[in-house]
Amino acid sequence: MKLNRGGSGEHGHHHHHEALKFSNFFFMPERPRDYLVLFTRVSVLTCLIFSVSLVLRITFLSSSSASDYSSSYGLRFSAVPQKALALPPTRSLGPINISHVQFCIAGAAETWLDRSRYTSLWWRNTTRGFVWLDKPVKLPKNNSDNRFSIPVRVSDSGWTRFRFSSSRAAVRIARTIWDSYQLNLPDVRWFVMGDDDTIFFTDNLVKVLAKYDHEQMWYIGGNSESVEQDVMHAYDMAFGGGGFAISRPLAARLANAMDGCLQRYFYFYGSDQRIAACVSEIGVPFTEERGFHQLDIRGDPFGFLAAHPLTPLVSLHHLVFLDSIFPNKNPIESLQTLTKPYNLDPHRILQQVNCHDRKRQWSISISWGYSIQIYSYFLSAKELEKPLQTFKTWRSLRNGPFTFNTRPLKPDPCQRPVTYFMDGAEDVRDSGTKTWYSVGDKNYGYCGKREHSRVTRVKRILVTSMKMAPEYWNKAPRRQCCEVMDGGGRRKEKAMLIRIRKCRSSETI
Ligand SMILES: *[C@@H]1O[C@H](CO)[C@@H](O)[C@H](O)[C@H]1NC(C)=O
Ligand SMILES: *[C@@H]1O[C@H](CO)[C@@H](O)[C@H](O)[C@H]1NC(C)=O
Ligand SMILES: *[C@@H]1O[C@H](CO)[C@@H](O)[C@H](O)[C@H]1NC(C)=O
Repeated sequence: MKLNRGGSGEHGHHHHHEALKFSNFFFMPERPRDYLVLFTRVSVLTCLIFSVSLVLRITFLSSSSASDYSSSYGLRFSAVPQKALALPPTRSLGPINISHVQFCIAGAAETWLDRSRYTSLWWRNTTRGFVWLDKPVKLPKNNSDNRFSIPVRVSDSGWTRFRFSSSRAAVRIARTIWDSYQLNLPDVRWFVMGDDDTIFFTDNLVKVLAKYDHEQMWYIGGNSESVEQDVMHAYDMAFGGGGFAISRPLAARLANAMDGCLQRYFYFYGSDQRIAACVSEIGVPFTEERGFHQLDIRGDPFGFLAAHPLTPLVSLHHLVFLDSIFPNKNPIESLQTLTKPYNLDPHRILQQVNCHDRKRQWSISISWGYSIQIYSYFLSAKELEKPLQTFKTWRSLRNGPFTFNTRPLKPDPCQRPVTYFMDGAEDVRDSGTKTWYSVGDKNYGYCGKREHSRVTRVKRILVTSMKMAPEYWNKAPRRQCCEVMDGGGRRKEKAMLIRIRKCRSSETI
């Protein structure tokens, strides 16, 4: 289920926008009468082109006056002129960077002021794209925290003529691919759709998209973590909240087909389902990338984020509905905390590394930049890789099934891990990092046994690592290794030093 897709009270003017059918409009005349018909059609077209250019000029004039108005109110809104669909783009060559992505964020006027807090966490001056709202909003002038840096656009009103069954906003949001494509911005290779509460880790998004040829048709994203959701909607579909990427050639076909699809698939619940159905008509399959996270779970996402799959973290979603990822912090503060290590070593964020302290018989699992779990007993690598189930399914709040295996949280507090959370990160010269983790309460209960209290005596852990090499994710993935270093001295019991490094070729965990 995709909540808060948009405000419920969208208004818009009924607007007729019939696409010209070029295939039937011109034809090779065979009989003399046909020449007359063709001549009439050519004249009609000439008139049309003239009037369209007139409309464009008028729209242009009115939008420039709208921006005069807006600057005095700190409003960032510009009218979208009705245009014919864009011409095929010129080829975009060279390695991909973030400027080749056009973001297409689904928002609603009613909730934008609040939701912009999420977008501003990842929006940079190199990101391109828009948040699409149902109507203009007045933004406060005070922009000291970079809140309103993502430009706002109002969806073309053409969407209002389509039928819908449950969510009217879903129609508008599905159509933002049309809105985005027809702007015809230069050098756009990918259109990346997301919700206003989707957090993108853009360096990793680029890393993942770099694997695919943007000149071909690709539809890339993630599905729901809750099997009940995949059964109800679809497995082979990119869930919108996790964000998904559409290469430019596919976006071109989709923009053309979208209005027909909206007519045919009016009975679907979400915008993402409408897009999936339309992509399927074009014959393009869904490509799953496991770093896109719809986060269709409830409760504490800790177990999931502490055992991320071995792939770059691309997105997070639904954090409004989940327990905060860091204890004693709200969702926004939590994300700000995660941003610190992310900025230092983006490709390593949440990457899991497991090792054992052989002397003390402890099992240790690090989710870099986020948390550390220590178990006072031995757990195999396979067990440590499995997320600890600290959460429930999204819709029915059950213990599963999920699209991955989970380990139940043991009823005995002594079997549960002692948890540590990142509270400091810094560069070590240019090529390495230090991150600190302090013991933090996840309310997993108290264990009085000696083995456990030996662990809880450790209050703080320092983790050192080299930054991930740029080619790390271009190779066959292999988890890195960690080793507990001998701290020595009297602080030995209270502090711990762990080094993350490449595994030796024959090394096992
Ligand atoms: C991305 O690459 C293009 C060339 O394709 C270049 O013009 C642009 O400056 C680059 N942007 C960033 C943010 O590196
Ligand atoms: C973009 O932001 C970076 C810092 O985040 C700054 O160094 C750079 O000058 C900015 N570029 C522009 C064009 O504003
Ligand atoms: C502007 O907003 C920031 C934070 O959002 C706040 O700290 C500051 O007091 C505001 N300034 C004014 C003049 O309202």
